[in-house]
Amino acid sequence: MPLTGIDDRVVRVDAAAKARGEARYVCDYTFPDMLYAYMVRSSIPRGTIDSISIPKLPDGYYFISAADIPPEGKNELWMIQKDWRCFAEGDVRYVGETIGLLVGPDRNILKYLLDHVDIKYTEGIPAVSIDDGIACKGGAIVGEDNVLCQLYVEKGKPMSEVFAEADSIYEETLETGFQEHVHLETNAAIVTEEDGKYAIYASAQCPFYIRKSVAGLLGIPQEDIIIRQTTTGGAFGGKEHFPDVLCGPLLVAEHRIHKPIKLVFDREEDMLYSVKRHPSKVTYRTALDKDGNILGIEGLVYYNCGAYLSASYVVLQRGVFHANGVYDFPNTYVKGIGIATNTFPSDAFRGFGAPQTLFAIETHLDHIARKFGFDPAEYKARYFIKQGGETITNGHIVERVMLPEMMKQVVDASGYEEKIRKYPIGSGRGIGISFYNHGGAFTGNGEQAIIKAHARLVKTGGRVRIEVGSTEMGQGFQTALRKIAAVVLGIPIEDVDYDNPDTSLVCDSGPTAASRSTMIVGKIVERCAAEMKERWAEGDFSVEKEYEHPEGHPWDQSTFRGDAYLGYGWGCAAVEVEADKLTNEIHVTGIWSSHDIGHAIDELIVHGQVNGGIAQSIGYASMEKMENRNGYFRQSSMSDYVVPTSMEFPKQEWFLVENPYEWGPFGAKGMGELVFNGADAAYIDAVERALGITVHRIPMPPEDIEEALGNGQ
Ligand code: MTE
Ligand code: MOS
Repeated sequence: MPLTGIDDRVVRVDAAAKARGEARYVCDYTFPDMLYAYMVRSSIPRGTIDSISIPKLPDGYYFISAADIPPEGKNELWMIQKDWRCFAEGDVRYVGETIGLLVGPDRNILKYLLDHVDIKYTEGIPAVSIDDGIACKGGAIVGEDNVLCQLYVEKGKPMSEVFAEADSIYEETLETGFQEHVHLETNAAIVTEEDGKYAIYASAQCPFYIRKSVAGLLGIPQEDIIIRQTTTGGAFGGKEHFPDVLCGPLLVAEHRIHKPIKLVFDREEDMLYSVKRHPSKVTYRTALDKDGNILGIEGLVYYNCGAYLSASYVVLQRGVFHANGVYDFPNTYVKGIGIATNTFPSDAFRGFGAPQTLFAIETHLDHIARKFGFDPAEYKARYFIKQGGETITNGHIVERVMLPEMMKQVVDASGYEEKIRKYPIGSGRGIGISFYNHGGAFTGNGEQAIIKAHARLVKTGGRVRIEVGSTEMGQGFQTALRKIAAVVLGIPIEDVDYDNPDTSLVCDSGPTAASRSTMIVGKIVERCAAEMKERWAEGDFSVEKEYEHPEGHPWDQSTFRGDAYLGYGWGCAAVEVEADKLTNEIHVTGIWSSHDIGHAIDELIVHGQVNGGIAQSIGYASMEKMENRNGYFRQSSMSDYVVPTSMEFPKQEWFLVENPYEWGPFGAKGMGELVFNGADAAYIDAVERALGITVHRIPMPPEDIEEALGNGQ
């Protein structure tokens, strides 16, 4: 049956195969004569390699390293820049840096050999924290000052004038920690050869990124490598650039050995030796008048980037562009600095830099409000940005902003006003509220100037196939996309096909990142489908279209001025908690949220994203503690790095407001990251009120709460 409209409920198209165990992940693929690979990694955070001694290898076993890169290739992965080496050579910069691969047919023998690799180092002194990096502990890792990237934005008057007029200045520093993606499926890839080309099967978000990144290792054209995305069991940003770190060494090994080679991380490897969310340290200095009105805010934002740049500059930009939250402050100056350290490179993670500054600004405003005796929600609402309001990048909010309506929904549903009276500060119970947004798609003119996405629809008989490089990773993209095409074409969703992308068959529709897939790629598919419908009688044909950028929204990437985002997702969340006074465990007793995502393509999928994103965000603020001591991550399993499960939190109550986005398919905007961006601050607001403490860093597991209460050792 054709669908009657986009609001029809459908069964997720990938649900049955995943539930039945029929979906094929990298792990499930085997090829004749397939070999396995294990990574030989640096066991120290910083130093020079004096010698590498490999045990005598049985026949059919290989050690692959930088020496195997052919003369026409270069030992570099091309992410955004080319600084991340495929194999460490000469020195190592973080624990877990790839030095080589051990490859062979028997995994037990490989593990035995791995245990007998002996690498001698001259150890350096590692810089681990942001402060270490700034102080150039052990000498600079990058340049002279460890600054990997930096930028600033300003709006209004110079801050020196604003501070001169202020009655008081409120200054504080807020910090966030590492966060591990914990995708259910660990990182994995297989490299083989097919018809004279290399073929890579990978658990990945961005097949075209891998192709671009690894081709230079062999000095071959990107087209000589085919990337086939396999069913991807969760990614959350952790499979945006990181698959390159597996696929690069595998490609070099394949070039030498010419047999299919499989590399699958176990959970411990995935936790200890993969990218994480950037830890941050954000200092705000806020100029206030005598009544507590904000005259201006100055921000200094540091992100711990780890040993290589990877996507850090872009992550930092997004952090800075979200540093004023959902507010229109009259004057502001925010500087962002990405610091190099000897930790595993930090990389994309749901929210892509925005969660750190959004947590900081929300919590900072809570503290100011409380100091002046205002209710934080009422205080923040005074500064809500409106349509036409000037953004932190001197652009304007293009769309209608429905924050007041969303706040009302959440306040009413949660009983916020009654609860703030009922639970006095320090009573052991508390409710907190936060506001947040997320700029959809690539920043500024990135979609138009860099990505230039294409999408194609192919009609064969009565069936239509969507050919795009965007991927399903659990967020429901496949269902959303097929639904968009089916509704426009007026055919049953079962008659629309979409396969996990194969770069030799589909268009490059850009990375599956920045919550852009439904919003940007979905729109191109909608346009293709509209043309296909008109020409339906023509028989078999295909329609391909390119992204079109709306006119009149300037952006200058050299000064970061202009309309950074045309469509933001907006959110408001309230979290209620009860503290166990004996153990300091915090029980979440209520979660309410309202989101503006334009129009939902599929409400059930949106519901799943809201539930998951909010749980992941509260986990980030509470239990998800990943410590790095002297360069070594301390948490290596799911029993010591604890993520929330369905047992932790109560059923969430959630709302959507209707605010169709002019340039999105059926009015839809990006939403996959938005739902992560704010519940952490609402949770901390609730914890602060329940316990009468002031929090300056997340996560806050019970032991840290103990310390904040002054009971710590
Ligand atoms: N949801 C699930 N279940 N699994 C994921 O890996 N990734 C998130 C988010 N939601 C993710 C997820 C991230 S990091 C992004 S960028 C968006 O989904 C991508 O959404 P899109 O399809 O709109 O681009
Ligand atoms: Mo998402 S962090 O942009 O992959």
